[in-house]
Amino acid sequence: IRRGVIAIDGPAGAGKSTVAKRVADSLGFAYVDTGAMYRGITLLGMRTGIAPSDSGEKLTELVRSAELKFEAGSGGLRVYLNGEDVTRAIREPDVSRQVSYYARIPSVRQVLTLLQRELAVADGIVMEGRDIGTAVLPDAEHKFFVTATPLERAKRRLKELNQEGYRLDLDQLVREIEERDRIDSSRSVAPLCVAPDAVVIDTTDLTVDEVVAMIVAKVGNT
Ligand code: C5P
Repeated sequence: IRRGVIAIDGPAGAGKSTVAKRVADSLGFAYVDTGAMYRGITLLGMRTGIAPSDSGEKLTELVRSAELKFEAGSGGLRVYLNGEDVTRAIREPDVSRQVSYYARIPSVRQVLTLLQRELAVADGIVMEGRDIGTAVLPDAEHKFFVTATPLERAKRRLKELNQEGYRLDLDQLVREIEERDRIDSSRSVAPLCVAPDAVVIDTTDLTVDEVVAMIVAKVGNT
């Protein structure tokens, strides 16, 4: 029997990664965090001085670069740049601020979308991002759109960042999250939006356990 593909989309900081990882664990599925791929390209661009506003030629160089490697593991994707493990570095606030500008470049999306489809050939996979149910895997058996209010998302992100030793201001984080949503939702290729056949889960007043249970129950019933 085919176990299928679960697509989980939603805006920044909605708790998608935590939820997707837990759903994958509980079903014995693999987990692919597509945001890590966009973050990898962004870090590469920042380090090589290739800006999103650069010429098509330079951007082609960026996406063709063989220096970036993704490795699916139990804890999510590990990202390597020139052999260096940058799995942590791609989470830095500087990368978060830049990533939407790289993610709206059509050639970047084209290359990463193909890679994501290749990864999804494996059966039993949870793939998480912004456009999985709408553009990457429109035929996914199960689609969820996980969201929360910007304030709640900023609070969750702040807690995470504090644990990692970053000191950021809540108001600033709300603004950054809203800005990222705005760019992600208004780009021309595969903008962030709810797939017509997705189940929308507003997690503002829900715990991670509750969200995971809702998704696992829904997948089990269909
Ligand atoms: O999920 P995460 O916050 O790590 O994603 C970082 C950024 O990568 C998003 O804000 C978005 O610009 C981009 N992204 C995307 N499409 C995806 C996943 C992420 O455009 N499928």
